[in-house]
Amino acid sequence: MSRLVVVSNRVAVPDAQSATSGGLAVALRDALQSCGGIWFGWSGRTAAHTADEPTIAQVGPVTYATVDLGRKDYNEYYNGFANRTLWPLFHYRLDLADFSHENYQGYRRVNSLFAEKLRPLIEDDDHVWVHDYHLIPLGLELRARGVEQPMGFYLHTPFPAMEVLLALPSHELLVKSLCAYDVLGFQTENDLRAFRDYIHYEVGGDLLDDRTFQAHGRLVRAEVFPIGIEAGQMEAAAERAMELGAARRLDRSLGTRPLMIGVDRLDYSKGIPERFRSFERFLDTYPDHRGQVSMMQIAPLSRSEVPEYKTIRETLEGLAGYINGRYGDFDWMPLHYLTKNFQRETLAGFFRLSRVGVVTPLRDGMNLVAKEYVASQDPNYPGVLVLSRFAGAARELDAALLVNPLDHDGVAAALNKALIMSLDERRERWNAMYARVRENSLERWRERFLTALRAVPTPLAVRS
Ligand code: G6P
Repeated sequence: MSRLVVVSNRVAVPDAQSATSGGLAVALRDALQSCGGIWFGWSGRTAAHTADEPTIAQVGPVTYATVDLGRKDYNEYYNGFANRTLWPLFHYRLDLADFSHENYQGYRRVNSLFAEKLRPLIEDDDHVWVHDYHLIPLGLELRARGVEQPMGFYLHTPFPAMEVLLALPSHELLVKSLCAYDVLGFQTENDLRAFRDYIHYEVGGDLLDDRTFQAHGRLVRAEVFPIGIEAGQMEAAAERAMELGAARRLDRSLGTRPLMIGVDRLDYSKGIPERFRSFERFLDTYPDHRGQVSMMQIAPLSRSEVPEYKTIRETLEGLAGYINGRYGDFDWMPLHYLTKNFQRETLAGFFRLSRVGVVTPLRDGMNLVAKEYVASQDPNYPGVLVLSRFAGAARELDAALLVNPLDHDGVAAALNKALIMSLDERRERWNAMYARVRENSLERWRERFLTALRAVPTPLAVRS
């Protein structure tokens, strides 16, 4: 089998910390290990200047090639265009998007530099798989350097509706860059439809069938590949966790009181302030639950140097203090708000102990926490998932209580419904969700994408 070249913004070089790597990193590493290849990207480190050459680490058949970014590149490419322009825009937050030209230049510069450094490492028979919004122009940059090998791109975030994307001054080049790939992968039908609309109405491209189109002189396959988790691993982790200190202590501290849980990176797309407000509405509207039910929100800090992330943190600190001050009592705290990080296994245990999983992003590509919550449940006494209809996961997990996170009354009513739901209904809903989570595994996602990528005619076949 030909080699694979994976490119992502962050590269998880296996080391002492690899035990804490997320499922996605492990799934991609497994793919690389089975066919050999390269994983290229940012090292996660910053320096005074961007490194001239990547640092190479060989682990078995996999070469890890990572680049340290200089402060200017890091600020303009990562903190700037990727996370202050594309991230808010792709999550429908035009109000938060910043359109600085300097940041855009930095984004282009780092993509061009990555292509320059990666080019000599690519061999004739390789297949290239690029990940996420940080690296959209990379394919075009590689093509400009003579790379004709099959290249695929997977977008982990939503793809915005055409009208939203048009607000971006560089929208044209961004989409032209996407057309440089042979295979494009999206999380949901919505994202694919938004992209195809842009190709049809804005570029004037030809939509040939459900999954292929022609635009900018290229034939491209664009498809939906919903990302998943390894349910079995999460399930086993949840069972193991029940024997561990943290879950046992949580269990003891709860007694018979039900817990609701939210776990999200501290990001405005996750709808955490809206969730807190809905929880407040719930305490107001259903006073019987006061003194009984608590919500635990775990929100590890993320992208802390980006101003909008500082603001959301302050907002949450204010709201949490307000809710606890107003509703709390000497022997009961309604809201537990933690920004510390927990191991996946510990989280699996927390999920299993929680009667309600609250996953209410304003927008989310997929949201794997929703799937992890489902996989962690005790099949005999499963909890209930309250899920935003704006998370990609809502497509598959339609047996959850689906909510509009902006509708505080609706979310409050769903929280109440989840708490009083009969065990029969809980089991019925959970069984339906669990079947979907098992079926659409992470491995299946990876293999479906790689099969599509490997089906692309190689340059030799194109020429002959
Ligand atoms: C989202 C993005 C990923 C990113 C992750 C963590 O899931 O789609 O590409 O790696 O957030 O964000 P960070 O900025 O810390 O890499």
